[in-house]
Amino acid sequence: MTQTTTQDILQHTEAGVCTLTFNRVGKKNSITAAMYAALADALETAAQDDSVRAVVFQGDVTVFSAGNDIGDFLQQPTSTLDSPVYRFLHGIARFPKPLIAAVCGPAVGIGTTMLLHCDLVYAGDNAMFSLPFVNLGLCPEAASSLLLPRLMGHQRAAEALLLGEPFMAEAALEVGLVNRVVPPTECNAIAQAQARKLAAKPLASLVETKRLMKLGQEGQVIERMAEEGASFGRMLREPAAREAFVAFMGKR
Ligand code: COA
Repeated sequence: MTQTTTQDILQHTEAGVCTLTFNRVGKKNSITAAMYAALADALETAAQDDSVRAVVFQGDVTVFSAGNDIGDFLQQPTSTLDSPVYRFLHGIARFPKPLIAAVCGPAVGIGTTMLLHCDLVYAGDNAMFSLPFVNLGLCPEAASSLLLPRLMGHQRAAEALLLGEPFMAEAALEVGLVNRVVPPTECNAIAQAQARKLAAKPLASLVETKRLMKLGQEGQVIERMAEEGASFGRMLREPAAREAFVAFMGKR
C-alpha cells in the first residue's frame, strides 16, 4: 500500500513496516509545518495499527533533512505545544514500537535531534550531523539538551551544541548515535531489512522491551521538551535569530 500524505512526505506500509520518506529534496528535505503534521498523523495511526510493527524514517541518498524550514521560522515562528512540530516530537518520544532511521548526507537541527528518539540508526558514510542552534540565535530542542550529553558526555555534546560543530558518520558511530556506517546507496535498504527483522518478531515483546528500556525517561524527556520549547519559541522572535534566518534566505 502506498499513500501520499503530503507530496513532501511519502508513506508506504509493507510487511509490517511503515516507511516515512522525506520527499522535498529540492529544498534539502527541510521540514515545513505541513510535513510535521503529516509525520505526526502517520505516527499516531502507526501506533494504533496492529499491522504496523516498526517505522522507518528515510531521506534521499544525498540528504536526510536540512532541519526546520527557515522560511517557516521567519513567517510563522510558533512553537506552542499543540503545534505540528511538538505533535511530531511528542509522537517520536512516546512511540511504542521500534523507530529506525536511515541517514545519508546532511542531517541538520531536528534532522539530528529526532535520531535521539530512534531505536536503530543506520548512516551512509556521507552523513553529516549538525546542531547549529546557537549559530542561529536559538537553543536546543527535542530534549537534545538532555539526551545528547547523556549519550556522548558533556564535553562532546558541548562541541556539537555550543560550538555548533558538525560531525561525520564515523564520529556518530563512535559516540553511539548510529548503529552502523554503510555505503549511502545501501543505507535505506539496510534500514528496511533491519525493520523487517523486527516486524517478524512478537509485537507485544517489542513494545514491552522498548517500554522497559525507556522506563523513567519519558517524563523527563517531555518535561525537557517543554522547557526547551518555551525558550526556543521566545528566541525565534528575537533579533539574533531573525537576522540569521534573513541572512540564510538571502544567501549571505
Ligand atoms: N529551510 C528552507 N530552505 C532550505 C533549508 C532550510 N532549512 N535548507 C536548504 N534550503 C533550500 C535552500 O534555500 C536552497 O533553495 P533554492 O534552491 O530555492 O535557493 C536549496 O534548499 C538548496 O540548499 P543549498 O544551501 O543551496 O544546498 P547545499 O547543498 O549547499 O547545503 C545544507 C545543504 C543542508 C548544508 C544547507 O542548505 C544548510 O545549511 N541549510 C540550513 C540548515 C539549517 O540551518 N537548518 C535549521 C536548523 S535549526
